[in-house]
Amino acid sequence: MTVRAEDTGGRRRLEFVLNGRPVEVWVAPHETLLAVLHDALGATEVKYGCGEGVCGTCTTLLDGAPINACLLLGLQAHGRAVTTVRGLRGAEGRHPLQQAFVDHEAAQCGFCTPGMLLVAYVFLRDHPAPTRRQIRAALAGNLCRCTGYTRIVDAVEACAAAPRASREAT
Ligand code: FES
Ligand code: FES
Repeated sequence: MTVRAEDTGGRRRLEFVLNGRPVEVWVAPHETLLAVLHDALGATEVKYGCGEGVCGTCTTLLDGAPINACLLLGLQAHGRAVTTVRGLRGAEGRHPLQQAFVDHEAAQCGFCTPGMLLVAYVFLRDHPAPTRRQIRAALAGNLCRCTGYTRIVDAVEACAAAPRASREAT
């Protein structure tokens, strides 16, 4: 990791690509990626749940792989690509997975939904024709306080059944 070394009160300049756009922010070395995204960059779609890597609520993609943003230092994202749930939305609107969540009323309070969507997105990318059991296993690390798991699994299953080209449209 190469971080520009100019210090300002211990803060360091962090540069990365957020949802396709370059961003630059000064951060304290101990700040988590979750804090940088949510508090410094206004990416409030990234939610704080447990802060301990247990609930999956803060799930974010780092170079396309899901990570718990509460467990990563912001500086570890330097020079990399970070995707939040906003990054799933394309020029034509909602990603098909997002639409499936809407169609199946998979979001109740919606707090877990960003993390669920990102995990499901990566899962379907790597497993285009999953079984219901596989979907449940893939989402097991993401907790829903509203316990709406059935509808979430329904939504992911429905999206998996859609033409692959449609799912990869964005
Ligand atoms: S807030 Fe990061 S895993 Fe719970
Ligand atoms: S929809 Fe409320 S926590 Fe999952």
